[in-house]
Order: sequence, then structure tokens, then C-alpha cells
Amino acid sequence: MRDLAKVRSVGRAAIEQVRPLIMAGFDRRLTISYKNEMDLVTEIDLASEKGIVAIIEESFPGDGILGEEGGEVRSEAEYRWVIDPLDGTTNFAHHFPFFCISIGFEQKGVLQYGIIHDPIRRQTFEAEKGKGATLNGEPLQVSKTPKLSAALLCTGFAAARRDDPERNNMPFFDRFWKKCHGIRRTGSAALDLCYVATGALDGFWELGLSPWDTAAGSLIVREAGGTVTDRDGSPHTLKSGCIVASNGLIHPEMISTLAI
Ligand code: IPD
Ligand code: CA
Ligand code: CA
Repeated sequence: MRDLAKVRSVGRAAIEQVRPLIMAGFDRRLTISYKNEMDLVTEIDLASEKGIVAIIEESFPGDGILGEEGGEVRSEAEYRWVIDPLDGTTNFAHHFPFFCISIGFEQKGVLQYGIIHDPIRRQTFEAEKGKGATLNGEPLQVSKTPKLSAALLCTGFAAARRDDPERNNMPFFDRFWKKCHGIRRTGSAALDLCYVATGALDGFWELGLSPWDTAAGSLIVREAGGTVTDRDGSPHTLKSGCIVASNGLIHPEMISTLAI
């Protein structure tokens, strides 16, 4: 079993390494490339992932890595790091100050540690399996909102699905906004999950996410006492794509709202 204190210090060192380059990039005009018409990538996404991977490989050269920009290496390894070097790229590229770095660490497919850093607000969210979740070292607890009718929710819309009326999330958005206090769309799924963990949001759902969007955040929500499942209430895995995260109390109502 890997010493998680060492994993934590590597996660924190990786954040320290790339934070300045992300903040410097936010203040200047960037070179933007397009993976497709809607999916942007900046030079900062690429540089951030390179920096994070270098720090991890210095300490744990045999570990697997799954990064949004670099793909998967050493897929047979017992330990794997799942990295979103910049979650909220569209916000970042438009100078909208809401984005983060997200790093999850798994052993044999089970999340053990996650760290998410918001460089604008200097907020670091962390969780270790079985040991709770924290924000800048202070323990986190999900909200106690008992009913969907009193809930503040959050969601996102996968650009790749915008032309598919059945799967583009608009029908679910339409159902939810009639049932709750309000719905936010921030543009960073990883931070959305952190805000479920702080209790500012009561629930979050999204369809069509990738493993790096939810790895660290799903552990942070669970360790803050929340519930994280697939759309039908079954266990969430990084391959699920769909995620429903909540304070647990409103979870059954969220799942029934998402039923076809
Ligand atoms: C995106 C953000 C966004 C979500 C998208 C993701 P990226 O990640 O998390 O909130 O709605 O589905 O792809 O591309 O900024 O890393
Ligand atoms: Ca992402
Ligand atoms: Ca990203």
C-alpha cells in the first residue's frame, strides 16, 4: 500500500509548480487551438499537464497516468494519476475567472486521494479515502437541505452533444429548474463538485463527462458526506460519463427527475 502522505505531497507540489504559469497565462493573450469547433485547448492546458506529469514521474516513475491532453500511459500499473490540467478552459480562454487544476490518484481503480486547486481564489480542496475532505485544511461537510424544492443545483452541457436533442441535457434542465431554487452553470465540473462538498450547492448533475473531470471531485464530495452515483442511481465509476452528486438527502429526487 502506497504511503498517502507522499502522494499528498506530490499532488501539492504539482499544484505549486503549475499555479504560476496558469496565473501568468490568465493575464495575457493566448494561443488557442481547437480540438473541434467547440472544444478549445490553450498552450496553458498543455504546459500545465507537462508540468504536473514531470513532478509525478520524478517521485513515482512507474505509475500510470491518464491526462486529458496526453492520454494514457502505463495502463497496466497498479497506481494511476488522473489529471485535468485546466478544468474550465472555455472560461480561462475568455478571461472568465472560474477554472481549476484537478488531480486524482487511484489504486487498482479505486480513488484514494484527490486535490483540486482554484488559483484565482487560492482555494485547495483535498480528500483522502476514509479521512474526510478539506478546503485549505478546514473540514468540509455537504449541506443539509432536505428537499429538491429548496435546493440550489448546478449542471453543465457537453458541447459535443449540443446537436442531439435527446442527450444534450436541455430536457433535464427543463425538468429541474421547475423543481428547485435555481440552477447554475459555471463551466468547471471539478469546481462544481467542490461546491457540492462545501454545501454551497446541494446537487450537481452532468452527462458526457470524462474521467479527468470527475476523478478528484467525486472523492471530495463523498468524503464530505455526500452521495455520488451514475444517472440511474448505480455506483459512479470514472467511465460512467454521467454523474449525479448531492448532499444525499435530495439524491432520490434527483435520480427520479433524471429517469427517462
Ligand atoms: C469542461 C468543464 C465543463 C463541462 C465540460 C467539460 P474542460 O472541461 O468541466 O464544466 O461542462 O463538459 O469538458 O474542457 O474545461 O477541461
Ligand atoms: Ca475538464
Ligand atoms: Ca481540461
